[in-house]
Amino acid sequence: MARKFFVTTALPYANGPFHIGHIMEYIQADIWVRFQRMLGNVVHFVCADDAHGAPIMLKAESEGITPQELVARIAADRPKYLNGFHIAFDHWYSTDSPENTELSQDIYRRLKAAGLTYQKPVEQFYDPVKGMFLADRYIKGECPNCHAKDQYADACEVCSIVNTPTDLINPYSTLSGAKPVMKTSDHYFFRLSDPRCVEFLTEWLTAPDRLQPQVVNKAREWLTGKDDEALGDWDISRDAPYFGIPIPDAPGKYFYVWLDAPVGYLASLKNYFASGKARAQGEARTFEEFLAAADTEQLHFIGKDIIYFHTLFWPAMLKFAGAPYKVPNHVYAHGFITVSGEKMSKSRGTGISPLRYLGVGMNPEWLRYYIAAKLNSNVEDLDFNPDDFIARVNSDLVGKYVNIASRAASFITRFFDGALAYSGDKDLLAREAHGLAKAVAGHYEARELGKAMREIMALADRINHDFDAHQPWVLAKDAAANKVELQDVCSRALQGFRLLTVLIAPVLPEVARRVARDLFGMSRGFIWSDADVLPERVNAYQHLMTRVDPKQLDALFDDGSGAAAGGAAAAKASAASAKATAAPAAKGTSGQSSSASTKQTASPNVTDPNQQVPADGTISIDEFKRVDLRVARIANAEHIEGADKLLKLTLDLGSETRTVFAGIKSAYDPAKLIGRLTVVVANLAPRKMKFGVSQGMVLAASGEAPGLYLLSPDSGAQPGMRIS
Ligand code: 2FM
Ligand code: ZN
Repeated sequence: MARKFFVTTALPYANGPFHIGHIMEYIQADIWVRFQRMLGNVVHFVCADDAHGAPIMLKAESEGITPQELVARIAADRPKYLNGFHIAFDHWYSTDSPENTELSQDIYRRLKAAGLTYQKPVEQFYDPVKGMFLADRYIKGECPNCHAKDQYADACEVCSIVNTPTDLINPYSTLSGAKPVMKTSDHYFFRLSDPRCVEFLTEWLTAPDRLQPQVVNKAREWLTGKDDEALGDWDISRDAPYFGIPIPDAPGKYFYVWLDAPVGYLASLKNYFASGKARAQGEARTFEEFLAAADTEQLHFIGKDIIYFHTLFWPAMLKFAGAPYKVPNHVYAHGFITVSGEKMSKSRGTGISPLRYLGVGMNPEWLRYYIAAKLNSNVEDLDFNPDDFIARVNSDLVGKYVNIASRAASFITRFFDGALAYSGDKDLLAREAHGLAKAVAGHYEARELGKAMREIMALADRINHDFDAHQPWVLAKDAAANKVELQDVCSRALQGFRLLTVLIAPVLPEVARRVARDLFGMSRGFIWSDADVLPERVNAYQHLMTRVDPKQLDALFDDGSGAAAGGAAAAKASAASAKATAAPAAKGTSGQSSSASTKQTASPNVTDPNQQVPADGTISIDEFKRVDLRVARIANAEHIEGADKLLKLTLDLGSETRTVFAGIKSAYDPAKLIGRLTVVVANLAPRKMKFGVSQGMVLAASGEAPGLYLLSPDSGAQPGMRIS
């Protein structure tokens, strides 16, 4: 029986183009969706622009256009990115839509009827010139602690202290420059603290396999409250002027954008059903019937910065609104994408521009593979490292995978007119393929994409090894005498190649489409059960994929300033040297920065400068836990020309490779270090050094006497393991 999925990614704000973080999330979800479809499951995969809120309203105003015009302009640009990276949503819609108005108001009315909403006056800064209440991000002033001017309240850029807007000296509105005044207005609240909500969420969060363990821990912490601070109610209203959905029977009040944004998932699905596209996928039921059905699995892929909204408010809203609304079956959070260890910051021009990636002629399937190879099911950041990217794509995709077909097919075309023949046990081959496909399917299902890719590349290694061991180029010198062996070894290589293509098809949809059509003459794309079918014929090989040229990476990172002139390494260094501490101004505009304006979401990442350091020098377990210590394998170690103390180490951390410059030259011969395990501080901010950017630090012991001793874990430890 086919499973039925309703899958979404987070809805991007409609105030700017996609950044690489969006593309990563869409690629992750798209791979998972394509895999499910290959299994024969039905997936309705939708997204939309998150159109409402003050930033979009103000941006439109500053451009002299309506918010609707701004949203339409941004939306018109989306297909370039989505088609460019083979991201195949079934539907793209907008939260500024009749469906979203209807659904948001319906959900609100139901929550109100359930006694879960109320009104209360809230006092807040108001810009008398602009005539609007000011969110914290529109207020600046002098820091009461260090007296730096022009600071936002939420984190002083100079002394890092966390203030509230009322703490600021001489506050002013960034919109008009006016001095804000305190003004009171009635706000609407969702009673999240209601025992019914707390009880429901406690149960919902702990259902087995619904959420990742890290997400459950975070959400539970918020739910139960830290330091006896219980979960507060949620302010769901904003006063006019606001670009949003009017609250029924509340003139001048609008839903806060975060109320109607997730409802936008449903609005997009509803519009998709109305468009007939669901029916075209064989779904005969109405939108409401589908949504309410027990066998509909509702899944949201999101970034780690919006876990709060998706694991507390959203399920509670759906639960207490009642049928046809249904709580999500899963919310899957991913980490952020960093570039050479640096958090990206769009405003500083670092990071990777998705359109530039395509514009310089880089293959979208390289990025899909690279992301897949580095993703696991945890909420971990993923680092785009140019050298690692070049190495993985060239070695795995071209060197291991594509090469099998180009080498084996040429013999079959030349000597056997395209016919394949196996001299061994065909059933055994099919059974082995079946077993492997099952293992890889398990990894895809669990979103362990890196494991799936490793399994696939291990198979590619075995196929290449077998092919090379038979030396078909030698056999071909006397093809008539060696006919059986030559045909068998090439046939098995091509059967293996076909199997590899089926397994990697969710990641490389375009390559898989061409392999099915051109090489194996199929009139349809691959499905999962094709994995254990042995091909009987192949057509002549046609070019499938080129290698990455390092110059392309230079072009990708070149911002026109000439910083990348020295090649990818220089480009990386320039990207890394621009320190990307998230500017408060960027808040809510980037999927990488915290979109939440609540203290709860902001606080876990902010160090408390008032925290006293105990006199005895002890640290708390939480402070210790902030140090991410990992087992690393020294994949390479080398001398650096001109460096007296440093060695350049290439560290394998399991799912990624790092470059670290370590001051251990006096104690170690680099050749002897290669292959050994050590311990690395993995979350140390990258440091730009004379010879490049160091992405971490290895640990070594030293004492009064000369001598330096690199730490090693006990045998059995694996690269990437966490040390705690
Ligand atoms: O953080 C963001 O980019 C939001 N626009 C995500 C909204 S997801 C959903 F709730 F719509
Ligand atoms: Zn300060």
